[in-house]
Amino acid sequence: MTNSQNSQKKDGLRVLFPTLIYEAWIPGFDAEQQNLISFVRNLRDNDQEGQRLSALEYPSGYTSYFTQSRLFTDAALESIVNFIHQTAENYAQLHHWDIQNYQPVINALFANINPKFSFHPEHLHPYSHISGVFYVKIGPDSPAISFKDPRMARWMMPPAADGSRPENAFHAPVKPEAGKLLMFPSWLEHSVPQNKSEEDRISMSFNFEMRPRK
Ligand SMILES: [Fe+2]
Repeated sequence: MTNSQNSQKKDGLRVLFPTLIYEAWIPGFDAEQQNLISFVRNLRDNDQEGQRLSALEYPSGYTSYFTQSRLFTDAALESIVNFIHQTAENYAQLHHWDIQNYQPVINALFANINPKFSFHPEHLHPYSHISGVFYVKIGPDSPAISFKDPRMARWMMPPAADGSRPENAFHAPVKPEAGKLLMFPSWLEHSVPQNKSEEDRISMSFNFEMRPRK
């Protein structure tokens, strides 16, 4: 008897080493969008040091990463931060991490403005377990975040594929949409190609670590 004739035994693919990316939608985002856009633009306009460092490290764009990366303490963002926290709890639970003894705690939240010509080179987020982004303002031609396959050995001699399985991609773009939140492992490299549109692309990024519960 072959495996395929026995209902207890089945031929097929076993999935190992998946990379899990979580998508969520910020509740009530539409009503808050203009406030959020103003919040980020005001942040930039009042952050001379952040503008100076962005000019050096983030060509054509602005990020508060160097100067104001603890925006989770800002009362204006309280409801969104609460939602991100809840989403991180879901993310940890869905992974079956040890949430009895550890809990996700946010350790960074910063804002990014990508005008025309700006881009974000490949990077990961050190000293964290969960990273993510949510989109504040996205145009129809805003570039997509692109995740890089972390299995470096795969790059040795990849067979030709027919394009029907996204798992075969080496770079996987995920479309940004205003109000959408993405969560991913902090070790997963990602990038954003150059913004070639006239419209600013505004996002906020964050990191969590799994800390022991007291
Ligand atoms: Fe990032």
